[in-house]
Amino acid sequence: MKKSSLLFSNELPRVSELGEELLLIYDEVLPKKSPAFKKWMKQFSLSYGVRAGEELKAVEKFPAHIFKIVQLCENTSSRRLTLVVAGGGSVGDFGGFVASILKRGVKLVQMPSTWLSAIDSAHGGKTALNVGSAKNQIGTFYPADKIVLVRSLLIAQPEARAFEGFGELLKISWIAGGKLWADLSKEYEITSATVWKYLAASIDAKNKVVSKDPEEKSGHRHILNLGHTMGHVLEAYYKLPHGVAINYGLDFALRWSVENKIMTVSEYEKIQRSPVVGYLLSPLRDELLQTKASLLKDFRKLLLSDKKKTRSETLRFVFLKKPGHCVIREVTVDEVLMEVCRQKEEELNG
Ligand SMILES: NC(=O)c1ccc[n+]([C@@H]2O[C@H](COP(=O)([O-])OP(=O)(O)OC[C@H]3O[C@@H](n4cnc5c(N)ncnc54)[C@H](O)[C@@H]3O)[C@@H](O)[C@H]2O)c1
Ligand SMILES: [Zn+2]
Repeated sequence: MKKSSLLFSNELPRVSELGEELLLIYDEVLPKKSPAFKKWMKQFSLSYGVRAGEELKAVEKFPAHIFKIVQLCENTSSRRLTLVVAGGGSVGDFGGFVASILKRGVKLVQMPSTWLSAIDSAHGGKTALNVGSAKNQIGTFYPADKIVLVRSLLIAQPEARAFEGFGELLKISWIAGGKLWADLSKEYEITSATVWKYLAASIDAKNKVVSKDPEEKSGHRHILNLGHTMGHVLEAYYKLPHGVAINYGLDFALRWSVENKIMTVSEYEKIQRSPVVGYLLSPLRDELLQTKASLLKDFRKLLLSDKKKTRSETLRFVFLKKPGHCVIREVTVDEVLMEVCRQKEEELNG
């Protein structure tokens, strides 16, 4: 798989350096939030604004978008055209998909504008559309030629967003271990500046995993789902931001890893002593795992609808042995639900 070049920049990049003939696909929120972006985007002769969100990725709406985009690009050359995609993960998934099929594939520059997209979704080459309520059912592997990380654009997001980004940052630092976790573990405060500080190292860590299994053939790439099994359930059930839900999901995965004797108690305690773990959210502490029967029934439905399940009643759960060492095990949906009950009991019994 092609390697994307990374550009870290304090300000929006020079437009002339992005390509010869350019089409900007951008989240309409950006010019409203940022006067600098509004001025910058005027330099593009071709641009297409979109509203971010899962609707943008709906395959039913795609023909209308591609019709307008093809019209916009009618006088461009397939060899010279570069799509510049500015926005969060939904705009990136949509724009990346467009780039992969427009004129049988044109050059692509991703400019992520949310922490989630800057840390995670802009890297690794996955593009996606949704089919009905089933997320990411259609897509291509199409790594960007260039990914531009603009500090002023990312830092301008509300501070609460940095905390959402932290969920994914913690995930990748546990997957990677080594220096990334050693450094992050010592942080006492998580702010936008902290997330920016660890951006390069966390992207590097994701790319290392992706390079071993670029098109998800060997299964290794699945470790990137650490924290995501229970995370997705809590995200859907409690309508939480993705990064917050993943933060909860990581706590669940860690406790289950100890229960299954994949992680030792002393390793668990060592992690808990790290200052940064003060930012780890616990679904138990926040009472998100009440074991009433209706909740378990709803969790079951959500676990079965998660696309990461393999056969109908089993899924591949990512456990952590220690930072830098994940273990994937096939588990049944019932085992996940039993672990929900067990963690709740354990909490009640102190
Ligand atoms: N391709 C992948 O590998 C991959 C990985 C993880 C997630 N995803 C996808 O990413 C999407 C979620 O990403 P997201 O949370 O970035 O979604 P998003 O694009 O929907 O953005 C979230 C919200 O932030 C707003 N926003 C964007 N930039 C902003 C800025 N600079 N300041 C203020 N607000 C801003 C958007 O308008 C939107 O309301 C999902 O569709 C998910 O499936 C893809
Ligand atoms: Zn995620």
